Amino acid sequence: MRDTVLDPATQARRRAAETADAATRRAGDLIHLNTAGAGLMPDAVRRAMTEHIELEAALGCYEAEELRGEVLREEVYRRLARVLEAPEQDIALFDSATRAWCAVVLRLPLRPGDRVWTTPYEYAGNLVSLLSLRARTGCRIEVVPTRPDGDLDLEWMARHISDSVALVSVPHVPTGCGIVNPVEEIGRLLAPYRCVYAVDACQSVGQLPVSVARIGCHVLTGAGRKFLRGPRGTGFAYVARRVRESLVPEFHDLHVARVDSPSSYRVEDDTARSLELAERNLAAVAGLDAALEVFETGTPFAHREVFDALCAAVAQTPGVEVIRPGTTHSGIVTFRHADVPPEVVVRRLAAERINVWRILGHHTPLYMAELGVETAVRASAHYYNTPDEIAVFGRALRSAVAP
Ligand SMILES: Cc1ncc(COP(=O)(O)O)c(C=O)c1O
Repeated sequence: MRDTVLDPATQARRRAAETADAATRRAGDLIHLNTAGAGLMPDAVRRAMTEHIELEAALGCYEAEELRGEVLREEVYRRLARVLEAPEQDIALFDSATRAWCAVVLRLPLRPGDRVWTTPYEYAGNLVSLLSLRARTGCRIEVVPTRPDGDLDLEWMARHISDSVALVSVPHVPTGCGIVNPVEEIGRLLAPYRCVYAVDACQSVGQLPVSVARIGCHVLTGAGRKFLRGPRGTGFAYVARRVRESLVPEFHDLHVARVDSPSSYRVEDDTARSLELAERNLAAVAGLDAALEVFETGTPFAHREVFDALCAAVAQTPGVEVIRPGTTHSGIVTFRHADVPPEVVVRRLAAERINVWRILGHHTPLYMAELGVETAVRASAHYYNTPDEIAVFGRALRSAVAP
């Protein structure tokens, strides 16, 4: 085993083979329509993680990190920077999207009366941080209204934006339904103003092109485990230098900080990594690196046909109400049935080896509460799903809700 794990050339060959294979990997007869929860990991990811753990067992954890330092400390950042079209020094890794978000947003230096714009599609975890931010700083939270079709009201934003708005938070794609918010258009609208523009790309990165350069945001957060198909326990943030330099100092870990005396310490790294903690699960980081390689070398956006088929299959099922605000949609379709509760639909589909997920309205509270949705079923497709799988899902759904 030792020879195998210590031989980088062999590893590289194996990874290349896995990468080529990854896009076509099938999970037996499982039909996985829960990538919005967590995507199916390609073999290359599983193998990269296993290999790292084997290295740790064979050499010692610190020694394994030294050996794989180029991948774990450099390559994974370079890849993420390329994928997000962001400067490499502005990328930081975390163990979840929420941790990434909190590391930045909770520390923004807002003042009493500063306005914070959120949207009805905000993730509840992000709202909790905004409420903490309000308690600490005295800022005011305002919810950007939507038009009757569910799209964010950009005309309202254009009319009301001013330098009294200190933070604008927009999810690219929300957790509970598949609307795609026009983050690039919003970026252009906000550009002349002083506000920090934060985009939650947790559900979009990997399923839609996400470019920090084109969006024009100052903060962008995401998770590795969803449409990027990385492991659980991985998250990341893009944080523009301007925002980093303004953050309220809270803590710096010892990979970047040096204590000079009982009364002072220095931070020796001014990149976004200064927001990270030193200790991390390096098997997960290795897995994320492999997932990014699969993403970069594959065809991750070749899924329009499957998205449309998924939507049609749900919409054509008798008695189903599709929860689908807005005019631009992703591969996430949320629905409920008049008579069959979501948990029953999920259970019946699971019995057919089809994964969908029961979502909770209070995870997208501002939108779902107004709609009166406590729970619903969420089906989410990715490029590894096929039109045949969607046809099987459509038949199974019809029979799951049949009277
Ligand atoms: C839109 C959105 N933002 C943030 C999160 C939080 O991600 P994590 O669970 O990695 O903290 C999720 C999780 O599903 C999400 O869907």
